[in-house]
Amino acid sequence: MTRILVRAAVAGDAERVFALLTGFATSHRPLLTAFDTTFPELVRLTASGAADLLVAEAGRHHEVVGYALAFRLLTLHANGPIVELQELMVAPASRNEGIGGELVLAVVDRARAGGAVEVTVPTRRARDYYLRLGFEDTAVYLKRSLA
Ligand SMILES: CC(C)(COP(=O)(O)OP(=O)(O)OC[C@H]1O[C@@H](n2cnc3c(N)ncnc32)[C@H](O)[C@@H]1OP(=O)(O)O)[C@@H](O)C(=O)NCCC(=O)NCCS
Repeated sequence: MTRILVRAAVAGDAERVFALLTGFATSHRPLLTAFDTTFPELVRLTASGAADLLVAEAGRHHEVVGYALAFRLLTLHANGPIVELQELMVAPASRNEGIGGELVLAVVDRARAGGAVEVTVPTRRARDYYLRLGFEDTAVYLKRSLA
């Protein structure tokens, strides 16, 4: 069985996370110039508790094979903060080994520890995946492109 370690991302994970990202994105093409600005900021926000940029290491070489990105959002309506899982990606060669599940669990655990009321996830293609992990159907998610 694969041993999986989930931890907060650090600066040295940038190259690996960018490689994973290029496999995740469907609606936007990832640009390295944008990534190089945003990645260190997300590492900083994770250290301060405002975000969770987590990576999963697995295999003999402790390679980073997946990542999750979630944000803590303050709300008025939910009587407390919620955490929104924005991105979840596992390298194709490492799928079906429980790595995605461990990343989601880590986001949920950190949300609970941080006093969040719930964890939400906007998704279309992985709806059934999250249902299996204890999520429920809720609001429709809309977007207005500014491009
Ligand atoms: C979705 C994803 C993160 C799952 O990662 P993973 O490490 O393979 O997941 P786990 O090992 O925890 O779970 C595997 C199980 O989930 C199922 N599963 C995977 N993707 C699924 C999906 N989109 N819908 C429904 N079930 C899914 C697998 O068939 C497998 O089922 P089994 O246990 O009955 O064999 C991975 O497939 C991925 O990176 N996909 C591309 C990016 C993506 O869709 N991200 C989620 C949107 S935010």
